[in-house]
Amino acid sequence: MSIASQAFSLSSVPKCSHEAQKERANMALTFDKYKGRLQMLPKERGWITGNLYMYQGFWHQSMRIISIETVMALQDTFKAHPTDIYLATLPKSGTTWLKALVFAIVNRNRYKNNSLSTHPLLISNPHNCLPFIETEVYRHTPTYAKPHSPRLFATHIPYISLPQSILQSNCRLIYLCRNPKDVLVSMFHFANKLRDKSGSLLTFEEAFDSFSNGVMPIGPYWDHVKGYHKVSSEHPGKVLFLTYEDMKTDTINHVKRVAKFLGYPFTEKEETEGAVQEIIRLCSFENLSEVNKHGNLREGIPNDAFFRKGEVGDWTNHLTNEMSQNLDRITREKFHGLDISFN
Ligand code: A3P
Repeated sequence: MSIASQAFSLSSVPKCSHEAQKERANMALTFDKYKGRLQMLPKERGWITGNLYMYQGFWHQSMRIISIETVMALQDTFKAHPTDIYLATLPKSGTTWLKALVFAIVNRNRYKNNSLSTHPLLISNPHNCLPFIETEVYRHTPTYAKPHSPRLFATHIPYISLPQSILQSNCRLIYLCRNPKDVLVSMFHFANKLRDKSGSLLTFEEAFDSFSNGVMPIGPYWDHVKGYHKVSSEHPGKVLFLTYEDMKTDTINHVKRVAKFLGYPFTEKEETEGAVQEIIRLCSFENLSEVNKHGNLREGIPNDAFFRKGEVGDWTNHLTNEMSQNLDRITREKFHGLDISFN
């Protein structure tokens, strides 16, 4: 559910079921438990809701499903397993796509003999198939309590703020990043889609200024990317570092690479039979956006909020030359000496 989850607070958790009631109660307790720690933190204006708070060098929202309180609660309680797989991203970097691909790769034998129309990705949002640890922490019956292996999770938490047990376990992470200019544009549209209808919409200039100053949900963009890039360079067997642009340009080889990294390589027979292409088709923007045209996630976020254009380079339709040059300069400075580039 990416940053969208941040747009929804207690009031958006369904009220009906026992499960939902427990979830609301857990959230209320968590918000209460950590509220004292928020008071001293630096604040800035938020993109979707009121404020962003600086915690461990990153800007987080508060009193939301994905929030500063969630990060603190996870740091206090989350237990990783060595067989876990984590997908880490900044919002709007292609999280939904990566979730779909990894879910489809890891579970390909489980659904092989089912009729295609019953594959979970054809009836549900990828965010329901592969949850964020941020949402799991409130659950009455969290997915992570279920006895299956590997457990697949996503997270937007910066590397430095991950729960210790993830850092210390042998589990694997995939980090997906995207050209900052496209992240800015995608986030701008997403934020305005989810902003309180009563409030005014963000202008692109406002979004640009905040982004350039590092102020975006779970930003600064550059620090988030650098945190995961560093550990990927030092421990390539633990963190696989990918870009949205490379994935778009050469999806086949990247899907194979992801499968191999996760310990689920495609066999020659599978490759000959077109298993890779089948997964790519299943997870394509066209297919997923069609499946998710209607309905909401359980947090109340419209399913279609995660599917806008799915293209590389839409920033050219939004940024002036001056804006583009400014962001290029910041990116050059921040990524100086690092092999991070976007096709
Ligand atoms: P745009 O707003 O540029 O279209 P996230 O999942 O991290 O929230 O990122 C959302 C971005 O990924 C959106 O970008 C969305 O359109 C794009 N996206 C969603 N599903 C995709 C898919 N199957 N393939 C490629 N891009 C996808």
